[in-house]
Amino acid sequence: MYDWLNALPKAELHLHLEGSLEPELLFALAERNGIALPWPDVDSLRSAYAFNNLQEFLDLYYRGADVLRTEQDFYDLTWAYLQKCKAQNVIHTEPFFDPQTHTDRGIPFEVVLTGISQALKDGRERLGISSGLILSFLRHLSEEEAQKTLDQALVYRNAFIAVGLDSSEKGHPPSKFQRVFDRARAEGFLTVAHAGEEGPPAYIWEALDLLKVSRIDHGVRAAEDPRLLDRLIEEQIPLTVCPLSNVKLCVFEDMSRHNILELLEMGVKVTVNSDDPAYFGGYVTENFAALHESLGMSQDQARRLAQNSLDARLV
Ligand code: ADE
Ligand code: ZN
Repeated sequence: MYDWLNALPKAELHLHLEGSLEPELLFALAERNGIALPWPDVDSLRSAYAFNNLQEFLDLYYRGADVLRTEQDFYDLTWAYLQKCKAQNVIHTEPFFDPQTHTDRGIPFEVVLTGISQALKDGRERLGISSGLILSFLRHLSEEEAQKTLDQALVYRNAFIAVGLDSSEKGHPPSKFQRVFDRARAEGFLTVAHAGEEGPPAYIWEALDLLKVSRIDHGVRAAEDPRLLDRLIEEQIPLTVCPLSNVKLCVFEDMSRHNILELLEMGVKVTVNSDDPAYFGGYVTENFAALHESLGMSQDQARRLAQNSLDARLV
């Protein structure tokens, strides 16, 4: 039905690998690792995917990630995501992973990274999908813990293209991580950050001015600040917008209220992404399809959004 959207070559620039863990794989990994789950079956887990805000989602997302234990688990997770990319003509992806979600449970950094990196390599060689991995710090944890994670990452510096910032936004401004990001940049990494999803436009200013990000993840609340909009347009700073996520997490009441096409028409460099597709009802094509159905996105607008994603690649 959405062949024309599937056919558009596109890049995905905002995808949490842990958020691509489909319930079926989650159950399979729990069984493989001998883990008892609080849900009797896949359907009951899926029916728990109803959220009033970001935190309610994150609580379930971190719970789900607990089934990821071995290098093979991280490989299987990443490979399943890459198969979706192939099916939807995502020709390039820059996924996030959250090492602290795993190292805090006693899974070695190397186990996580090796599984993911091997799958990305196979994706390049066997599926023709180019990629660059982004290490994301959990902003609800301390600066010191982020510094320790950066220390671990530096051992494998060639495995990443950038560092990012995710998890609970409110109360954890980008300024909390200024020194971590300074060090990451000095070590040669590019930077991105989630900002302006639930948090105020001031967090977007901080991400730009203090963390010196190349892109803003989400950023939809920039619409509340005309001076910020002028800057985003003037400097053509990409926003990695995630429409289905924003509706699922009640950032917008309904898809018909989403502002992505208004931002596009103002000249903001917006892109379409899936964020946590296993939890929010779809991958990139489903996000494009929702914009078509609820906002009347035209073919020309879809082409411009897809082109923006290719232009906004870090590598
Ligand atoms: N981690 C996974 N998805 C996220 C989101 N949408 N916002 C913040 N942190 C996240
Ligand atoms: Zn995200």
